Amino acid sequence: MWDFFGTVRHRHSIRKYQPDMPVEAEKLHAILEMACAAPSAGDLQAYRIIVVRDPAERRALVHVAHEQGFIAEAPVCLVFCADPARSAATFGERGARLYAVQDATIAAAYAQLAIVAAGMGSTWVGYFDEEQVRAVLGLEPGLVPIALMSLGYPAELPEPSSRRRLDEVIGWR
Ligand SMILES: Cc1cc2nc3c(=O)[nH]c(=O)nc-3n(C[C@H](O)[C@H](O)[C@H](O)COP(=O)(O)O)c2cc1C
Repeated sequence: MWDFFGTVRHRHSIRKYQPDMPVEAEKLHAILEMACAAPSAGDLQAYRIIVVRDPAERRALVHVAHEQGFIAEAPVCLVFCADPARSAATFGERGARLYAVQDATIAAAYAQLAIVAAGMGSTWVGYFDEEQVRAVLGLEPGLVPIALMSLGYPAELPEPSSRRRLDEVIGWR
């Protein structure tokens, strides 16, 4: 088990999975709990997380995500959806436009690190057709899918990706 810094450093996007190694129910539960432990505006948790295990639905998600086949190879796909109406009830237009998306994004980021801590891997998929994801999953009206996340045991150890230098990204005042 790594400490927090090790967990962050060992997270790499995984696009090859061991198809015969299912995600254990207890680990999945722990990952979802960590996602829901993320901060949210007004503590409203203005998001929904759809756990897609059904192989036919995962194959359908491949098609609506421009044929990114690893989504069906991984045994689980988590679909993070913003719930703008939930945030708007308290925060109005800013809640609908910004906070709900931030709430869902932070939950997804926490999930991605929890997945590493649980000994598995994931890839955050943003390249998909929103309307078609809604149709495939029969999402409640108003929910906005913001990220698909493949989840499973890795069958590859990717090279670490590069990052911009800190002094390009950080401004000090
Ligand atoms: C908002 C967002 C959208 C992304 N969309 C995709 C995607 O559609 N397909 C994919 O294979 N990876 C996608 N990625 C993963 C990035 O390509 C990956 O995080 C980046 O190249 C850095 O590599 P690393 O995750 O291994 O550190 C996405 C990541 C983010 C944060």
